[in-house]
Amino acid sequence: MKIVNVVGARPNFMKIAPIIEEMRKFPGSISPMLVHTGQHYDDNMSRQFFKDLELPEPDVFLGVGPGTHAQQTAKIMVEFEKILVREKPDLTLVVGDVNSTLACALVSVKLNIPVAHVEAGLRSFDRAMPEEINRLMTDAISDYLFITEKEAEVNLLKEGKPKDKIFFVGNVMIDTLLKNKAKGDSSGILSELHLASKNYALLTLHRPENVDNEDKLKGLIDILNEIKKRITVVFPVHPRTKSKLDNLGVSANNGLKLTGPLGYLDFIKLMSEAKCVLTDSGGIQEETTILRVPCLTLRKNTERPATITQGSNMLLGTDREKILKEVMNVLKGKSTNSGIPELWDGQAAVRIVRILIELSGTNAFSQERC
Ligand code: UD1
Repeated sequence: MKIVNVVGARPNFMKIAPIIEEMRKFPGSISPMLVHTGQHYDDNMSRQFFKDLELPEPDVFLGVGPGTHAQQTAKIMVEFEKILVREKPDLTLVVGDVNSTLACALVSVKLNIPVAHVEAGLRSFDRAMPEEINRLMTDAISDYLFITEKEAEVNLLKEGKPKDKIFFVGNVMIDTLLKNKAKGDSSGILSELHLASKNYALLTLHRPENVDNEDKLKGLIDILNEIKKRITVVFPVHPRTKSKLDNLGVSANNGLKLTGPLGYLDFIKLMSEAKCVLTDSGGIQEETTILRVPCLTLRKNTERPATITQGSNMLLGTDREKILKEVMNVLKGKSTNSGIPELWDGQAAVRIVRILIELSGTNAFSQERC
């Protein structure tokens, strides 16, 4: 069974790593290929993750780079189609919700090659988010839907997906976190940034809804200026956010440490030793849940409800009073008493690969689209 696995943007790398590693344990059953679309292309957004996660070099690099959504999605489709026509795989496996996920799923189904979507069924119910459109469209056309939490099944069933195509397998991002936690612990990032454990807050911001709107970003910077009076804030800046901060004249100063995007191992070390994390990322809500670090999510919705119902996540939007109140609660030591969501146990990739091998044994892939 030849499987083309797709990565494109930063959050894809930690999701695909355990899947590729597991597939490689079954050379008699699976021949995995790795295609990198090049949606993210900088060393610190891409190459560093291959090193940190010991990912094999991609078999194919499409090198699409930046562009508008239409340009980027279209470029990926044109280039990816050539690869599928040449390689004729039995299955395409896509992860997450980035433009590469949707573009490659769409090309694949049009060529009658079945698609497996890992991290299916998550919904923010906010169609202004490009990721929500990518999630809805990818799930609508995928043949096998691997989900990270039970709520995702509810969403998929409501959208008319058949129950026998949905597989609750756990969370591959957590497989990677658990596997690399010890390595991350030996990162020297704390001393490099002159930080002490539990003596700083970690901030990330890159969602268009927060950083592309100047007023919203100004409001968030005001809140940041309040927080840093009470605790040092470390802010690794995403490329999308960098130019916006430059325009607003935000620079490192007393209480605010700005860095470029960090590698995976350094970042998990920074997360695990932080007093709290403030973020608009999706994956970080999940990782902080496992690390049991309070996560203050600067969004009005989350597609990952288990991080709230079971984990350490709080949904605060961009409301100044709410955010400052929760930061103070954390500083006063108010505990979150969080637990670990079901099946976030480091075995998701094992389950996925086992299911794929079983499906290929029943000839499901060839029957699927004939
Ligand atoms: C993308 C994903 C988002 C994910 C995020 C993680 C989509 C729709 N969005 O958003 O879901 O959470 O990645 O990072 O797919 N840039 C660089 N160097 C890079 C990559 C990007 O400078 O290596 C620049 C781009 O040129 C562009 C901006 O950053 O100006 C945004 O990049 P883009 O990939 O369009 O979207 P992200 O905001 O990163």
